[in-house]
Amino acid sequence: MSEQKTSATTDSPNRTIKIFDTTLRDGEQSPGCSMNLAEKLQMAQALVELGVDVIEAGFPIASPGDFEAVREIAANVRGSTICGLARCNEMDINRAWEALKSSPQPRIHVFLATSAIHREFKLKMTREEIIQRAIAGVKLAHSHCDDIEFSPEDAARTEHDFLCAVVEAAIDAGATTINIPDTVGYAVPLQMGATIAMLRNRVPNIDKATISVHCHDDLGMAVANSLAAVEHGAGQVECTINGIGERAGNCSLEEVVMALRTRSDFYKADTRIHTPRLVPASRLLTSITGMQVQRNKAIVGRNAFAHEAGIHQDGMLKERTTYEIMRPEDVGFQATDLVLGKHSGRAALADRARILGYQLTGEQLQTVFEDFKRLADRKKEVYDGDIVALIEQQLYGVEEEEWQLVAFEASSGTGRKPSVKLTLRHGNEDQTVESSEGDGPIDCAFLATEKLTGYKLTCQDYQVQSATLGHDALGEVTLEVEYHGEVIRGRGVSTDTVEATVMAILNAVNRIAQRVRKN
Ligand code: KIV
Ligand code: ZN
Repeated sequence: MSEQKTSATTDSPNRTIKIFDTTLRDGEQSPGCSMNLAEKLQMAQALVELGVDVIEAGFPIASPGDFEAVREIAANVRGSTICGLARCNEMDINRAWEALKSSPQPRIHVFLATSAIHREFKLKMTREEIIQRAIAGVKLAHSHCDDIEFSPEDAARTEHDFLCAVVEAAIDAGATTINIPDTVGYAVPLQMGATIAMLRNRVPNIDKATISVHCHDDLGMAVANSLAAVEHGAGQVECTINGIGERAGNCSLEEVVMALRTRSDFYKADTRIHTPRLVPASRLLTSITGMQVQRNKAIVGRNAFAHEAGIHQDGMLKERTTYEIMRPEDVGFQATDLVLGKHSGRAALADRARILGYQLTGEQLQTVFEDFKRLADRKKEVYDGDIVALIEQQLYGVEEEEWQLVAFEASSGTGRKPSVKLTLRHGNEDQTVESSEGDGPIDCAFLATEKLTGYKLTCQDYQVQSATLGHDALGEVTLEVEYHGEVIRGRGVSTDTVEATVMAILNAVNRIAQRVRKN
């Protein structure tokens, strides 16, 4: 090799980095993030609108639900490559192809572990056996379609000589993308960059494939490691919305994309991502999974653009760029100071919903408008955060509500036994029950709901968040209950947190009832 390839930034000025989104596969397989088919389709559509190059839609052999989701996404979602994951064996690869074949842009992603620790303890295979298995798997996948990705799992802990040998063999067998996973989040940026540079220097056929990187965030370095890989020649980054994923998560899509966009002067690279869709995609995922992002999370956290300190506000007023490196509207936060109130009409609400990135049907808008009017009666000023909470409550609703809230009364206080009296409508009948056995109003609300509906609910997670600042803010309750081994989510929004809790419990109960009716 005549010239050492160390940095891609100097010799390739305007590279377009592919964004491979694995929210629906690596993200979805982490606890608390599972999605049903309709939710996966909705998320896949949001990823297309965001402009991701590749959507990893699932792991078809993993379960009939995963297979169905990949098949439906491949059949219906257009505009991005649709990818399915497979271990390096015949059954997995054929099953992945079966799910993917109706997509005009299918990709099969085959993986096989290569590190010494995986070879010895998990696979019990020799180096040569691994190379032969990789070749056979990639060849089989390539007999189905042209777009093949190969991942040497735990590549970041694999001996360089062996990694080069596997990568070269996979490319010869037909792999068009070579993904370098840091499966356990062990790498550090210098090492990740050096590994990519090493592959570019030592693997003779490396130019026939795109190098990809897939980093986990166990040491909080997934984004930094991915950027280091890009700096040294990776042409694809694998990531997830809000950084969801196994354990500490995957590389966060919004962070890596905005780092490349904001520092394109340094990386000499960009992506095709339509960045104003970042916040809507993040919110959609949060409302589907109930997994909130921390307030100070870069790019999509509620405080990501909030300047509280006086010295910062003063600087911002004089010249925005003193303290702001990105504009909130570039990532999808709408800079509006307008506040709605009880005299605002449907048209103003519809307009605000559109500005906030939501497309509501006439029926959805009507329900949100009714909720908005009720809220405006309780609260003088209704902010964007309140409207987002009401809209998401509506979008997260259950089509047919078997149990409806008619009324509730809660009482608690120092030295008093808490109690909740609850009236629910079931069919045409109103039923009331009082529970005072709980150790607080939330416990009583659960017990009262259980008595009325007959469903035994085990609460696994319960969170309250305020939708906006101020003590008159809407409270958003998200919870998870276990019912017959399945985790069901519920969401409720009200200025009264006990009422929001009752609504969230009922939301979960109505989901359970829907499942019971279907089975
Ligand atoms: O983390 C990992 O190694 C993976 C592979 C399947 C790419 O998710
Ligand atoms: Zn992974």
